[in-house]
Amino acid sequence: METQISIMTTIRKRLLPAACITAALIVTVVSCASTDKPAKDTLSTNAKAEAKILSVLEEMSNDRRYAMWNITQEEGRLLWVLTAAAGAKHVVEIGTSNGYSALWFCLALRTTGGKLTTHEIDPYRISMARKNFKNVGVSHLVTIVEGDAHKTVTRLKEPIDILFIDADKAGYFNYLKKLLPLVRPGGLILAHNTIDLASEMQDYLKAVTNNPDLETIFLHKDAGGISVTLKKRR
Ligand SMILES: C[S@@+](CC[C@H](N)C(=O)[O-])C[C@H]1O[C@@H](n2cnc3c(N)ncnc32)[C@H](O)[C@@H]1O
Repeated sequence: METQISIMTTIRKRLLPAACITAALIVTVVSCASTDKPAKDTLSTNAKAEAKILSVLEEMSNDRRYAMWNITQEEGRLLWVLTAAAGAKHVVEIGTSNGYSALWFCLALRTTGGKLTTHEIDPYRISMARKNFKNVGVSHLVTIVEGDAHKTVTRLKEPIDILFIDADKAGYFNYLKKLLPLVRPGGLILAHNTIDLASEMQDYLKAVTNNPDLETIFLHKDAGGISVTLKKRR
């Protein structure tokens, strides 16, 4: 009898805490599983939104009906990666066209909580860009500023994390002069066609390579070329 009582006491002492721990673990796992569910849903919603933008970009790059002077897919991927890595909150683009490069920025801005201000002079291209932004559900991330960007950029007041220049080539230096003060230290200035149309922007190229406050590299040299300029932190 004494032995039986002692065995029961041992079971209570040793197994009950173990049972309690197991029960607690089950509750934890079940509750984690239930909090996991919305996270999975969010993930798939995000993945779907990203896939939608990428599929529209694919369609746009295969559409040869209009001459929209868009960047290449590879250059677009560069914009996406740089914007996401910088955690950019404000991207400014000069030269929207039909919104192709803007959509690459939007892929990143959706996740950084940032926004794009993009400038375009041509009303037809502006209407195409608006349609494209609406179609993929990124209109809330983008402000299109209509008109001659040499004039309209003077309205910008907020700090810029990434400036992308892809409009009239002879105007690059003027855009840089006007907007460099707004680019935050550690921010980037990207310029398109710095290889194939270099002769039209000599003043710009001199400015970004000779200024000691800037560090410039040239990418995609075998195509149009993109310069990436860092505004150094001092
Ligand atoms: C090379 S395209 C831009 C392509 C666009 N970044 C893309 O990759 O999808 C240049 C655009 O700049 C616009 N543009 C030219 N001069 C301009 C100016 N002074 N102000 C605003 N936009 C201008 C043109 O109408 C044209 O749509």
